[in-house]
Amino acid sequence: MADKYLRKVRISVDGFDTASERFVDKDYEYTATNNTTVLDALIGIKERQDSSVSFRYSCRMGICGSCAMVINGKPRLACETKVFDLGADTVTVGPMRGEPILKDLVTDFDDFFEKHREVFPWLIKRGKKGRFNSKTESGQTGEERDFYLPFAECIKCGLCVDACPVANTNKKFLGPQALAQAYRYNSDSRDEGEEQRLEYLDSLDGAWGCEFSGSCSVVCPKSVDPALAIQLLKSDIAKYRLLKKGKSKNRK
Ligand code: SF4
Ligand code: FES
Repeated sequence: MADKYLRKVRISVDGFDTASERFVDKDYEYTATNNTTVLDALIGIKERQDSSVSFRYSCRMGICGSCAMVINGKPRLACETKVFDLGADTVTVGPMRGEPILKDLVTDFDDFFEKHREVFPWLIKRGKKGRFNSKTESGQTGEERDFYLPFAECIKCGLCVDACPVANTNKKFLGPQALAQAYRYNSDSRDEGEEQRLEYLDSLDGAWGCEFSGSCSVVCPKSVDPALAIQLLKSDIAKYRLLKKGKSKNRK
C-alpha cells in the first residue's frame, strides 16, 4: 500500500528485556496515516498486537517530556515525530542509552532529577528568613521575564542529556539540562541565589565539563539552547571569580 495518506510501515522496537538483560528486536507491521506519530503507532501496537511492549507517555502533545526515545538513530519525542516525516519504510525505536533501562523503552530518571535538584532550581530569596515569601508579590517587568523565559521552556525530557557526549562518558557531569536550569534561575530578576549556584557549578563536573559539542541544543524539542546557557554560565563564573579576587586584594 503506497498512498499519500496511508502507508504500511515496519515498526522495529529495539527493546530491552530485563529477564535476559539483552536487547531484543521486536518487529511489527503498522498502517500509518499521514498524521500518525511514532507514539500513536506504539500505542496501537500495544493495544492490538503486543501488550508487553513498554514505553512511557502522558500528554501526547510535547508538554510532559515522558515519551523521549531514540527514533531512527536520533533522540526525539515520540509524540512529536510523525511516521511519514521520517521518510522511511522502517521506523526503529530504542531507549535512550544514557540512563539505566528499566524495560524496553523505559529508562530510569532518578539520576537525571537528582542532578536537576542539585542546581537549586527554585527562586532563592536572601530576606530575613532566607526563603521566598509566597505572601508577598515579587514584581517583574515583561523585559525581565523575557530574559529567562526561553530557558524556562524545559520539559525535562532528557533528550539533551542523551545526546551529550560528556554526560554519556562522565556520569558525575551535571549535564545540559541541569546546567541550563541553573542559568534560568540565575537570570531571573526575582532570584538572589546566583552566588550559591556559581560556587557549586565551578568545577569540571559542573559548567567547565561542557566541551561545547552543541548536540544538546540540536535535539532539544523546546529550543531551550542548553549549550548557550552553559557558555553564559562559564562567563558568569569567570566574572564572579575575578570580582571575588579583586575584593580580597582590596582588603589586603
Ligand atoms: S533542555 Fe530541552 S532537551 Fe533538555 S530536558 Fe529540557 S526540554 Fe528536554
Ligand atoms: S507524551 Fe508528553 S511529551 Fe510526548
